Amino acid sequence: MGSPRRGGNSDTLAQHFCERAAQHGAEIEQFALSELSYNGCQNHFRCKQDLSHCVQQDDLTPVLDAISQAQVLVLASPVYFTNVTGILKLAIDRFFSFFVPDYPTAEKKSRLSSGRQLVFIQTQGEPEERYRDLMDSYSASFNYLGFEQQHLVRAWGVREPSDVAANVDFLKECDDVVDEIYRD
Ligand SMILES: Cc1cc2nc3c(=O)[nH]c(=O)nc-3n(C[C@H](O)[C@H](O)[C@H](O)COP(=O)(O)O)c2cc1C
Repeated sequence: MGSPRRGGNSDTLAQHFCERAAQHGAEIEQFALSELSYNGCQNHFRCKQDLSHCVQQDDLTPVLDAISQAQVLVLASPVYFTNVTGILKLAIDRFFSFFVPDYPTAEKKSRLSSGRQLVFIQTQGEPEERYRDLMDSYSASFNYLGFEQQHLVRAWGVREPSDVAANVDFLKECDDVVDEIYRD
């Protein structure tokens, strides 16, 4: 959860996703990044030298551990100044520790197993045509990390915390992605 606003639009969609995924039998672990204390990547580079994990041990450590075990990763964020929130970007930078030391040339670049799924829940105040391609810029990096299947759930024109809950189309889009992932 990359929004600091509990009960807001990103949170509503994330909870909606998790409730429906649980109905499909998914085991779910949630983290609210705004309640955690951590730094972004400091480029110590130990994860490419003598360690196979991030040298920083902080509140993000259990999050990274959980991600390494997860088949499906859901990242929920509002658009803040044309991008994901700062707290989510700091966390994403720490995903650098999932890359193997020779990742620039290695065929398999990730320490994580392949075949994983990424869901990005994106909410924004501006209209639909803005920030359509926000996740595209992250797509290749997540692909290299093993999240080859990527899904986008977007809600636009939402500013008040209850706006998403009042729009059945956004909730339905979320349902459809859950059902696609867990249909088997
Ligand atoms: C600091 C800040 C920056 C924002 N920047 C943008 C922006 O650049 N584009 C946009 O469409 N909405 C922007 N918004 C609006 C939020 O994306 C929108 O209200 C969203 O629904 C908030 O998500 P939440 O309810 O999960 O907190 C911004 C809101 C805040 C608080």
